[in-house]
Amino acid sequence: MILRPWRDADLAPFATLNADPRVMEHFPKTLDRAESDAAAARIRDHFDQNGFGLWSVEVPGVAPFIGFVGLNIPKIETHFTPCLEIGWRLACEFWGHGYAAEAAQAAIDYAFEVLGREEVVSYTVPANARSRKVMERIGMVHCPQEDFAHPILPAGHPLSRHVLYRLPKALWAAAKERR
Ligand SMILES: CC(C)(COP(=O)(O)OP(=O)(O)OC[C@H]1O[C@@H](n2cnc3c(N)ncnc32)[C@H](O)[C@@H]1OP(=O)(O)O)[C@@H](O)C(=O)NCCC(=O)NCCS
Repeated sequence: MILRPWRDADLAPFATLNADPRVMEHFPKTLDRAESDAAAARIRDHFDQNGFGLWSVEVPGVAPFIGFVGLNIPKIETHFTPCLEIGWRLACEFWGHGYAAEAAQAAIDYAFEVLGREEVVSYTVPANARSRKVMERIGMVHCPQEDFAHPILPAGHPLSRHVLYRLPKALWAAAKERR
């Protein structure tokens, strides 16, 4: 697979996956075309500002765009920010092929080897088993004592509670030795 910069041609399939309730099950709502385009614009701005971001994922011979996987500096303020986050969102017809885990491994390697970061974090709602499985697959460790209420959601919202996973550089380096 290829992790690449975004193209305008990605916007239509991105809008399709953002409008899919199965993909957005663990988010507050699906996105309409304008909201999806705005999300893509924010991702592209992040690349302009930082030189990296949530890459478009292309699988040659399969599809020119299956979703995004990559690195993000979240704007939220919590006990663990500022930080570098790893994240993913794929169209559901491409789930279950290992694409997310493979792309995430490449993004993690980039964070430590190219960006020289000391740690990568990830977070999601407790019920998002697929996403948690990807986190665990790439060696991230759940830190239950650090689970938190997402600051952009009102207290008591059903998606408020989030689990926090961390991957310190030393743990990544030890796992890399074994690969
Ligand atoms: C999270 C997501 C990217 C995972 O994609 P995927 O294609 O299932 O990922 P992979 O094929 O790489 O599978 C990763 C692991 O999840 C496992 N898995 C697949 N379906 C699962 C399920 N229903 N429950 C638990 N684990 C599951 C796979 O077996 C694999 O585990 P393994 O490596 O131990 O075999 C995808 O489900 C998605 O885009 N979800 C919607 C968006 C989202 O929630 N993003 C995260 C927000 S924090």
